Amino acid sequence: TGAFTYDPGFTSTASCESKITYIDGDEGVLLHRGYPIGQLAEQSSFMEVAYLLLRGELPSKTELDSFIHTITRHTMVHEQLAMFYRGFRRDAHPMAIMCGVVGALSAFYHDSTDIDDPVQRMIASHRLIAKMPTIAAMAYKYSVGQPFLYPDNSLSYTGNFLRMTFGVPAEEYVVDPVVEKAMDRIFILHADHEQNASTSTVRLASSSGANPFACIAAGIACLWGPAHGGANEAALNMLREIGTPDRIPEYVARAKDKDDPFRLMGFGHRVYKNYDPRATVMQKTAAEVLEKLGVKDPVFDVARELEHMALNDPYFIDKKLYPNVDFYSGIILSAIGFPTTMFTVLFALARTVGWVAQWNEMIEDPAQKIGRPRQLYTGHTQRDYVPVDKR
Ligand code: CMC
Repeated sequence: TGAFTYDPGFTSTASCESKITYIDGDEGVLLHRGYPIGQLAEQSSFMEVAYLLLRGELPSKTELDSFIHTITRHTMVHEQLAMFYRGFRRDAHPMAIMCGVVGALSAFYHDSTDIDDPVQRMIASHRLIAKMPTIAAMAYKYSVGQPFLYPDNSLSYTGNFLRMTFGVPAEEYVVDPVVEKAMDRIFILHADHEQNASTSTVRLASSSGANPFACIAAGIACLWGPAHGGANEAALNMLREIGTPDRIPEYVARAKDKDDPFRLMGFGHRVYKNYDPRATVMQKTAAEVLEKLGVKDPVFDVARELEHMALNDPYFIDKKLYPNVDFYSGIILSAIGFPTTMFTVLFALARTVGWVAQWNEMIEDPAQKIGRPRQLYTGHTQRDYVPVDKR
């Protein structure tokens, strides 16, 4: 009973006020705290963007150094957390491991779960941002049967992550500046995207007063789906399956076929009805990285040709379907050496910054209350129970 607005998928419901990220989907504009994503991706660093999202302003040099120092201090995880990994099968999807391990952090860091205390909230935020690369790298190391590496805090946030992922104890790992720059840029491009499904999940989980580690684990679970963060893995798998440009028309035809559930992965967006500004930077970065690393991946040609065909096809034009952030990211990640199963983990690592920024904003907002959508009931009216022998 009751007259509620029916809005499946929340296409026209604003769930909160926010000062963090602005999107104009028709114009293809994305601003973080007012700064265009293109400028941040080209000129800033992930740590600086993390500070910006969390604190609201770009840091001074001293503020940035102090923030990096704080994040660096928190990069280690409790030794006992390593045992969690051993409970998983080696072939477990790393996103399954991420859901479990990040959720478990609340059992290790009780001293930062009082969400009413702003100091504890900031410690939890720093811990999450700092420990994500360590946890993600450990998920990778576990899958390939190599020893976990401790963080090396003389390296940058991104360099440290690359070393923990690809380094081995027997050899010195030299961070390739081209790879480090590309990885940092990918992190910036994934850092926040206002009230997307996983961020809304974090906010909804947190609205009940749940601890921050549990809320971020909920966000990771939501991000995993192929319609959301899982699209980067699905997009590269699709491009590899297409394999050569001559097979593109077949896949475009399938995407247009109403009776075929197939969709072009890395295409389309709920908000962008224009080119996703993150995809513009991603395509450019993919070209640069492949060239600088000397990688010849035919999948990049397939991607560009597929994009070209789709953008000239009336189906995609009418529905305003453009490449999104996930279309080109997999090509770069694959050139760097990540297996496809790690792609969404990298998205989660970067998005943690947005999640914690949004989580803090929500808790500080006096208007927020427990998220409790209503429904339009379409089931049976009242009826009497019939014992099983009479049914
Ligand atoms: N390929 C073919 N047709 C598509 C696609 C696609 N990728 N995306 C949407 N459509 C069609 C869809 O069939 C529908 O047609 P009709 O109106 O005739 O029923 C129309 O376009 C609108 O689609 P929708 O599903 O109602 O739109 P939505 O806003 O609910 O979905 C989306 C947005 C991102 C889930 C969807 O575009 C999609 O499934 N894309 C592929 C997965 C993907 O790349 N996801 C990553 C999104 S960006 C990063 C992130 O959020 O993590």
